[in-house]
Amino acid sequence: MLDREPACDHLRRDHRVIEERLDILLAALMNLTSERIPEIQATVRDLQDLAAIHFLKEEQIFYPKLRPMAADLLASLDHQHEEVRELERHVAELLAEPPEDPDSRWLNDLRTFGIEFHDRIQHHIVDEEDHLFRLAGERLVPEDQQSLARAMEHVHGGL
Ligand SMILES: [Fe+2]
Ligand SMILES: [Fe+2]
Repeated sequence: MLDREPACDHLRRDHRVIEERLDILLAALMNLTSERIPEIQATVRDLQDLAAIHFLKEEQIFYPKLRPMAADLLASLDHQHEEVRELERHVAELLAEPPEDPDSRWLNDLRTFGIEFHDRIQHHIVDEEDHLFRLAGERLVPEDQQSLARAMEHVHGGL
């Protein structure tokens, strides 16, 4: 059943799972207190795990297929992945050793970078769905979509 799913549907499904975590992160950041730090740490860890597998599927399997058809678009999506990774590293570093009694400056930093991290991922997802998946929908035949999806299932299962 699953291996008949088109690649775009597979990636969209990942996006919806990532967005659930993004909503939880944003809600916690908007009402940030030191008591919420463990919840934010867990949510960011979930996002790191989800994004690692998802980016791998895109960079190793989906992007290479579309790159010859839209080099500029793919270069800009590569760049967005790098920006997301950079922010993710920064947020994870902040959360790695939070102060015992965080002051408002530290909390403000976490809020600022956490919201930026959220916004970049959300923006990237919209860009992919509006531009890349639309192109893929027009240019890939169903057999391509299915074989890409099968390869991506393998990435998921392999990690
Ligand atoms: Fe992506
Ligand atoms: Fe994506």
